[in-house]
Amino acid sequence: MKKILIANWKMCNKSAAEALNFLNVLPSPQKKDVRIAVPFTLIREMAGNSLKIRIGGQNMHSYAEGAFTGEISCMQLCDAGADFVILGHSERRHLLGETNEFIQGKVERAVVEGLSFVLCVGETLEERELGETFDIIQSQLDSAFEDLSEEQLKTLGVLIAYEPVWAIGSGKSAEISQICKVHDFIKEKYPLPVLYGGSVTLENFEKLIQASSIDGVLVGGASLGAATFGQMIQLLPEG
Ligand code: PGA
Repeated sequence: MKKILIANWKMCNKSAAEALNFLNVLPSPQKKDVRIAVPFTLIREMAGNSLKIRIGGQNMHSYAEGAFTGEISCMQLCDAGADFVILGHSERRHLLGETNEFIQGKVERAVVEGLSFVLCVGETLEERELGETFDIIQSQLDSAFEDLSEEQLKTLGVLIAYEPVWAIGSGKSAEISQICKVHDFIKEKYPLPVLYGGSVTLENFEKLIQASSIDGVLVGGASLGAATFGQMIQLLPEG
């Protein structure tokens, strides 16, 4: 299976011109699976780029439309050119109060409208220390995928990203052995590609991407510089 490299730009404050310059200096991924999840305002600018890097959103609402000031719908993401969306990122779960139930609604919306997505799951440090990692991850997955068949998830190209909350933006990536244990657990229940995210850097990239249980990486901070992201693209195995 092809390994997958996804940048998560978060609220990166790149202007449209900066985002296009970023694309201009990247090496071509050719047939490699490289994607960038960007702020809403950059989707239309970046979608359809000549490098064929897939552009996605970082969130959307669960309703098709309605009075939800500041939110964006699945249809609008697709209309802007997004071909995937990140759902359930831990910053939205923990900083913005998104519940498993709310995230399940978003998953359902994406399935109904045919938009592929990356579902993020992961435990906090406290949950890990209490020995609750597997229970937390199972409940996040079971809730998000309730009523969906394996077939539906596979057809839509759904990916799971395991992102331990304590590893995100902390400079402390999880150990490969810790990651693989969780990935194997996830794959046993939901046989979908599982990416790792949390302080992925150019230094740990190759080791992570070579592990057989790790199907790809979701990179935050280290994806913002074109030189580093470009090197990751080059180091990503072909197939
Ligand atoms: P990080 O973020 O690489 O900056 O730790 C990863 C993520 O939140 O997806």
